[in-house]
Amino acid sequence: MQLPIKIAPSILSADFANFGAECRAIEAEGADWVHVDVMDGHFVPNLTFGPAMCAAIRPHIKTVMDVHLMIAPVDPYIAAFANAGADIITAHIEAGPHIHRTLQAIRDTGKKAGLALNPGTGIEAVEHLLDMVDLICVMTVNPGFGGQSFIASQVDKVRRLRAMLGARPVHIEIDGGVTVETAPLVAAAGADVLVAGSAVFKGGSVANPAPYGAHIAAIRAAAEAAR
Ligand code: DX5
Ligand code: ZN
Repeated sequence: MQLPIKIAPSILSADFANFGAECRAIEAEGADWVHVDVMDGHFVPNLTFGPAMCAAIRPHIKTVMDVHLMIAPVDPYIAAFANAGADIITAHIEAGPHIHRTLQAIRDTGKKAGLALNPGTGIEAVEHLLDMVDLICVMTVNPGFGGQSFIASQVDKVRRLRAMLGARPVHIEIDGGVTVETAPLVAAAGADVLVAGSAVFKGGSVANPAPYGAHIAAIRAAAEAAR
């Protein structure tokens, strides 16, 4: 199954004093989705934002609010992120013992369900979840921070996951270290959604958003050419 390439800038690399304007700027510059990294200082060693922030930026997002929950536990917060307007809610397989229940709970809210895998997690664990997900997020860094280096061993994981998915129209999202150099590797292996934080926001600002558009276009072109 080959789905169109989508670029999902992570606002973890945006100006934290200006999230609404940053969301409008990246969409005007060609972003397909807006990726929101929620961190709890427990599952990952960093803290970011919660449901109130997602609700606040929702009116500034016309495309898709893609919420990546790097939190444990997840289940007590699913309703809050659904009510905040998330379109996709992604939970980590490593975040608790009952990922099946978590995915069901996300789908019960009417939102799309995503499943994220840390770099050290194998794909055997997702075999029985394939019909419960709309998206699988392959982490190509250890989650917690933007600007880390791409972990190349994950490319083979993407290839094997795409084969395992067969004809299912499930997105494979890549998160971490995506650049014009690494995007072709994962696109060729079967990924279709590319999250990029530092590589999209570098050199630009709300006052000067053209670099955002140039980076988004360059990453998209590199990925499409590699398929
Ligand atoms: C990492 C986050 C990523 C991160 C990507 O924990 O999930 O979304 O912001 O940032 P870059 O593209 O800079 O690696
Ligand atoms: Zn993320």
